[in-house]
Amino acid sequence: VQADYEEQYRPQIHFTAEKNWINDPNGMVYLDGEYHLFYQHNPLGTDWGNMSWGHAVSEDLFHWEHLSVALFPDDLGAIFSGSAVIDKNNTAGFGENAMIAIYTSAGDKQAQSLAYSTDNGRSFKKYEGNPVIPNPGINDFRDPKVFWHEESEKWIMSLATYNSITFYGSANLLEWTRLSAFEYYEGLPYGVWECPDLISMDYNGEEKWVLIVSTNGAPNGGTGTQYFVGDFDGNEFVPDNASYPLWLDYGKDNYAGVTWSNEPQGRSIFMGWMSNWEYAGQTPASVFRGAMTLPRELFLYTHPDGHLIVGSKIVDEINMISQKEVALFAGQVTNDVSLDLDATDAYELSVSISGFSNSGNILKLQNSNGELVTIGYDMERGALIFDRTESGTSDFSGAFRKSIESPVVFNEEILNLQIIVDQSSVEVFVNGGLSSQTNLVFPEEIYNELVLTGENNSFYADVKFKSLKSVWK
Ligand code: FRU
Repeated sequence: VQADYEEQYRPQIHFTAEKNWINDPNGMVYLDGEYHLFYQHNPLGTDWGNMSWGHAVSEDLFHWEHLSVALFPDDLGAIFSGSAVIDKNNTAGFGENAMIAIYTSAGDKQAQSLAYSTDNGRSFKKYEGNPVIPNPGINDFRDPKVFWHEESEKWIMSLATYNSITFYGSANLLEWTRLSAFEYYEGLPYGVWECPDLISMDYNGEEKWVLIVSTNGAPNGGTGTQYFVGDFDGNEFVPDNASYPLWLDYGKDNYAGVTWSNEPQGRSIFMGWMSNWEYAGQTPASVFRGAMTLPRELFLYTHPDGHLIVGSKIVDEINMISQKEVALFAGQVTNDVSLDLDATDAYELSVSISGFSNSGNILKLQNSNGELVTIGYDMERGALIFDRTESGTSDFSGAFRKSIESPVVFNEEILNLQIIVDQSSVEVFVNGGLSSQTNLVFPEEIYNELVLTGENNSFYADVKFKSLKSVWK
């Protein structure tokens, strides 16, 4: 089957494989004008299995060129998640600026292995000395994420080790020494930790470190991505005091995301897998199954409680596919206001709401088949509520038909929602991305009507619309 990107539910502005199953983004690295995206892939079917690294490249993080599968299973096992770095100083001896993939060999026991490319990722050789970190006798030992730590002049690997993250150090990517571990403690969601990422971020000129950890026990059920903000001295990560758990995204469908390595502008660009292990294998699929979130730039912000939080916003490159912004509505909403959307491929709504009288629904997005999602606000609890119970096909899993809640950081007078709608997803960024929700939906056709729901409520709304052009046409 060759993809035509017009199959039912096919995302028009999100990354999908041409065909078959995908899960986690892997090996995200920039080199010579190209953003590389590798990903967990079953080249042979729409279910999880035969785990390999699929591969695509993009100059702008939106338009992707599919390349052939980069890494296939071998004698050491399947190719599970991992990262890639550019070895500028040839520390490993594979060549200056070699692209080196560090991944989990998932055989009987999980171990860490390397593969390298000296042709911009077009072909990889597996290192003869694999695995570089053998299994120490635990079941969950995977998802290496590696970066060069300038200050201590060594490579640092964050590795998911059951319910802790173990840090390793190396001068050459080949020999690794255990440095320390950041461990689960009571109060955090209990589950196996996966796909860590330790990143340096700037906060008003101060360096802070963020540790991203994907896990079971997400606030709305199933799997999600939590994070810790703190310090790292080249050996140990120490989190600041905050009311953990904190979540990068409070929706149901953003998992296993990490950031790009070697990003030319020094941005922390994050991309996640847009699904949830609760039902990832059951979502409707014909040609392909699975998509990535939009690429997001992470930033730090001081929460009213005094600690730092991580916000996210869509990368500026979205302008490449944005059509002219149109003012749709501005005024007081006292009865339902229905607005037609010129929705073809995908679109973005900017909705600014003020002067609420009551908690309740703010808006509905719907289509002519009566499929809809509602977004509401609970003023007392400061919660944004996304309901996809009637969103379209949803009977494939009980865990899917849920109303989903996220905190509105800053329970203010004004609520700003940026809503990005594609054929099978709705991403909501609240107040400039201080919190977000990513949720899958499977409507027969894209929602093309917006209803501002003033019936039991009254508020002022300002709504703008931008059409987003398919990246596949
Ligand atoms: C996360 C994960 C990783 C693992 C990969 C296998 O979704 O479970 O821990 O490496 O998927 O496909």
